Amino acid sequence: MTTDSASPAQDPAPRMAPLSLPGDRELVLRVMPLPADVNANGDIFGGWIMAQVDLAGAVLPSRIAKGRIATVAVNQFIFKQPVSLGDLLSFYARITRIGNTSISVHVEVYAERNPANLHVVKVTEADLTYVAIDGQGQPRPLPKPL
Ligand SMILES: CC(C)(COP(=O)(O)OP(=O)(O)OC[C@H]1O[C@@H](n2cnc3c(N)ncnc32)[C@H](O)[C@@H]1OP(=O)(O)O)[C@@H](O)C(=O)NCCC(=O)NCCS
Repeated sequence: MTTDSASPAQDPAPRMAPLSLPGDRELVLRVMPLPADVNANGDIFGGWIMAQVDLAGAVLPSRIAKGRIATVAVNQFIFKQPVSLGDLLSFYARITRIGNTSISVHVEVYAERNPANLHVVKVTEADLTYVAIDGQGQPRPLPKPL
């Protein structure tokens, strides 16, 4: 038996992201924090979230640079809401600037919480800059778009 012909309305377990997540940027990472990532307040460590944002932010610049990149700057980082155990975090990225050797990206992080009565909260947003580097770790010009 196949369920391929079932309409989305009949699907008892929809796999689409909730409509309130942004559609104008690319989903680059999804992750759920673990108990080891909790701080003394019972929330998730800001440093853990920053590491995930750095990983997520690198996805689109890596694609454009077609090679090694390094994070040169975290230009802005805002923790808007605490992240809790059980939150499913989705990281959305949008390129904001392409320079000679550097690429800047805006990352927004949304938490899906309380699956029984799902709601989506923007928890973090950040602006980061990555530089394309050569084998010696020096800046290299970005490849020209085709
Ligand atoms: C990344 C690195 C190679 C850049 O070398 P650099 O000599 O500082 O490079 P430059 O000054 O020529 O700048 C390179 C690009 O970065 C941009 N840049 C530098 N500092 C920046 C900042 N604070 N914000 C935004 N962009 C910045 C420059 O504008 C330039 O972009 P462009 O070529 O598109 O105009 C070097 O700084 C480095 O190795 N840093 C450590 C990287 C690292 O370890 N990251 C992980 C952090 S734990």
